[in-house]
Amino acid sequence: MSEKIAPLTQRPAWKALTQHAETVKTLQLRQLFKDDPARGTRLTAEAEGLFLDYSKNRVTDETLSLLTQLAEQSGLKQHIEAMFTGEKINITENRAVLHVALRAPKSESIKVDGEDVVPEVHKVLDKMSGFADRIRSGEWKGHTGKRIKNVINIGIGGSDLGPVMAYEALKHYSQRDLTFRFVSNVDGTDFAEAVQDLNADETLFLVASKTFTTLETMTNAHSARDWALASLKDDSAIAKHFVAISTNAKAVAAFGIDTENMFGFWDWVGGRYSMDSAIGLSTMIAIGPDNFRAMLAGFHAMDVHFRTTPFEKNLPVLLGLLTVWYTDFFDAQTVAILPYEQYLKRFPAYLQQLTMESNGKHVTLSGEHVATETGPIYWGEPGTNGQHSFYQLIHQGTRLIPCDFIGFYKTLNPLGRHHDMLMANVFAQAEALAFGKTAEEVKAEGVAEALVPHKVFEGNRPSNTILADVLTPEVLGKLIALYEHSVFTQGTIWSIDSFDQWGVELGKVLAQKIIGELESATEPTLAHDTSTTNLIRRYRSKK
Ligand code: F6P
Repeated sequence: MSEKIAPLTQRPAWKALTQHAETVKTLQLRQLFKDDPARGTRLTAEAEGLFLDYSKNRVTDETLSLLTQLAEQSGLKQHIEAMFTGEKINITENRAVLHVALRAPKSESIKVDGEDVVPEVHKVLDKMSGFADRIRSGEWKGHTGKRIKNVINIGIGGSDLGPVMAYEALKHYSQRDLTFRFVSNVDGTDFAEAVQDLNADETLFLVASKTFTTLETMTNAHSARDWALASLKDDSAIAKHFVAISTNAKAVAAFGIDTENMFGFWDWVGGRYSMDSAIGLSTMIAIGPDNFRAMLAGFHAMDVHFRTTPFEKNLPVLLGLLTVWYTDFFDAQTVAILPYEQYLKRFPAYLQQLTMESNGKHVTLSGEHVATETGPIYWGEPGTNGQHSFYQLIHQGTRLIPCDFIGFYKTLNPLGRHHDMLMANVFAQAEALAFGKTAEEVKAEGVAEALVPHKVFEGNRPSNTILADVLTPEVLGKLIALYEHSVFTQGTIWSIDSFDQWGVELGKVLAQKIIGELESATEPTLAHDTSTTNLIRRYRSKK
């Protein structure tokens, strides 16, 4: 499919956008809103209960039209179809990209290599549901006959960030007499702190690893087994206290976990797109199978919206195109994710892997160096905390930082005026960023002349505001799918492979070599540069 698509900078819409951007850069949001009294209601879109106000972006109607033309000329429609129908669009790994199949209803059929994967997906979901119910009800007993009170997910990257984020996001719906912890770092402190107040006979480990070879996860899993056996003192206890979530049955069996206690998934699920697969087992145990399925329904609703809605009204497409606009025509290097919902405190961290591991690429699908910037840096913190730390730079610094504000009409924890105050801050921040405060306005407040420049807010700083009713499992699914498909849209425009991650390999390989040198009785081999050799020597002499 990529053969038929012209290189990005040769697409007519790209050329037109390059010229058009010069005009738009001189426009002020203040003026754009003055010129069009309907702008604040017109440049909005709503679907599946998510409302997107994108009016505070530095765009005109022509920008939006050119961006959607760019999407068409980039083959977005065909690429979406290719993903949904199981084509192997992850070309460097020769794999289909089918996280959308993880939330497809039973009635659908999606084929990979001629085989319908939907029945398999539902088989695993049913197995997960049965297991989750047994843990939640106390029917599943540990080796000494006690019920499980603690669930520890051991995983890293996509096998950790999704589960942690979803657990925090949906804590309101969680079974509160179960304790959930997440161990990811190979730093022994992570494991030690996670178990320091727990009893092994009440603890269940979920070893989550797509490959079941990841150094951090395997190291933590072995330490967990040692820790459990130190008090349970019987190898047969492993079956009651360890389950595996993986695509690699052989490695699971080699670790000593009965494959009966394994929850599978497939190579067409990327790690960072896997939180709604068996990797979400901790989420399902926490919130229960019904809530988990409601989350999947939310994902699916956004999938259908993405696949079927014209680009001008398509929420993920709009978000993705705006990101390309700022990245490539305004030299914006980052996007700030600012959820005004405490339960979404790990959402920015989750999005970092989703977006940056996906679109942090410097070659196109055909292997040429890209001609433009690609994936921006995503970062953020829940509001209002960020306001009292880094917002100063967003308001008055020298960089352009497009922001996504995320808020809810209702809170899960009504408490006096808290929620109105929280939401007042969402609207105030977006307003201040867009419209700022002129020198005249500052002077009119009687500010001393010397201080005026310091108190001016230039404004013209773009943001999206995303609103939803209340944070439910379903809404969380929709929000995640919104960003998944925004990433897809961006990657399609840039003609990159958003589904591989070769960039993490080199460091892994070097670390394996260096471990041997740190543990060896003899000197480093000197195959490194002098800096690395010196650091290794220093560590060896002082450890
Ligand atoms: O960091 C690289 C990576 O492969 C991620 O893509 C993945 O989510 C993570 O490691 C964990 O991999 P696994 O689930 O195979 O342990």
